[in-house]
Amino acid sequence: MIQKFFNTFNCSVNISINSHCSEIELNKWEFSKFIVRKLVPVAGIHPFPLDELMLMATAVVHFRPDVVFDWGTHIGKSARIFYETAKLYKIPLEIHSVDLPEEVYHVEHPHKNRGKMVHNKKNVYLHLGDGVETSLNIYKANRYLNPLFFVDGDHSFDSVYRELTLIVKEVENPVILLHDTFYQSSEAGYNVGPYLAIKQVIAESPKPFKVHSTAFGLPGMTLLYL
Ligand SMILES: C[S@@+](CC[C@H](N)C(=O)[O-])C[C@H]1O[C@@H](n2cnc3c(N)ncnc32)[C@H](O)[C@@H]1O
Repeated sequence: MIQKFFNTFNCSVNISINSHCSEIELNKWEFSKFIVRKLVPVAGIHPFPLDELMLMATAVVHFRPDVVFDWGTHIGKSARIFYETAKLYKIPLEIHSVDLPEEVYHVEHPHKNRGKMVHNKKNVYLHLGDGVETSLNIYKANRYLNPLFFVDGDHSFDSVYRELTLIVKEVENPVILLHDTFYQSSEAGYNVGPYLAIKQVIAESPKPFKVHSTAFGLPGMTLLYL
């Protein structure tokens, strides 16, 4: 029975609905088929559990970005998730994914595996440099109208605060996804730097961001948009 349900997956069904209304709304039953049938076989559920896969794909089908800026690249899993979603739903976009140069130490640097999940994928471009600086340079040099930023580099308060502040300052109408944003009280001993950075940037921003976050477990993802 369950197998039969998933076999009815049809990518031409309208996923983003009621777009004349104020809130994001998807046909989540249909979209779940896409997540389970198409994304999970490629991307698994680590580091992005099902609700985070759904939030990433939602950002693509709802906002229909013309460009995704993604950092850090690591093995390219997040870039691949954006790529697969855009391909299936026929949303033309470029993906620019940035990781640090070899000579800059970072505990999570993927070295020779950098970007391996998106090698030779059409309209996916890999760059070396600082994520936010490189992305904003590309953004400013082009005529993108509708950028989506995926912030998944260094997860300290200072890094996320800096990156988010720069995006908000330089980009008129950004859609921003941030990873590792789960909040838990201090007894758990978690790094809540990204959560606190988002909270502070929103409080300081004159722009009235809407915020949606996944809940109830690590690692956590937050969507900001205007
Ligand atoms: C958690 S991993 C990213 C996972 C990746 N998004 C994926 O889906 O496979 C963090 C990555 O960010 C990179 N990184 C850290 N700081 C960065 C920065 N300032 N600019 C670009 N990349 C950075 C690290 O080298 C590492 O590869």
